[in-house]
Amino acid sequence: MKNNKESYIVKVSNLERVYENGGLKYEALKGINFDVKPGEFVSIMGPSGSGKTTLLNQIGALDKPTRGDVYIDGLNISDYNESDLYEVRRQKIGFIFQSFYLVPNLSV
Ligand SMILES: Nc1ncnc2c1ncn2[C@@H]1O[C@H](COP(=O)(O)OP(=O)(O)OP(=O)(O)O)[C@@H](O)[C@H]1O
Ligand SMILES: [Mg+2]
Repeated sequence: MKNNKESYIVKVSNLERVYENGGLKYEALKGINFDVKPGEFVSIMGPSGSGKTTLLNQIGALDKPTRGDVYIDGLNISDYNESDLYEVRRQKIGFIFQSFYLVPNLSV
């Protein structure tokens, strides 16, 4: 039996993501906290532009937080390098994108 801290499959702590474009800063995520236990189904809902994709990119190990922590299966991936994030994506995460990014000449 895993200890309590590790009993979350996803845990997000004080998560912030600030986008910077041409000197302009935009706070897309401002201090997000939540956790998901193994076997739980969770929907993230909100209006367009509220930060759903930004959040999914964080817990999908596709993007890094500006501040705060993301735990996947007990691992704090917040300061992982690209190679470590690749391993997390390969071993821990399945991700279906809003656009499917299918390769038309392949069957799978
Ligand atoms: N790369 C980026 N650079 C600057 N701002 C961005 C970037 N990506 C997203 N944003 C901004 O961050 C905010 C959140 O965007 P996000 O795409 O996460 O929203 P969303 O909830 O997924 O929206 P939708 O329902 O339309 O998919 C928006 O204001 C968006 O314009
Ligand atoms: Mg989106």
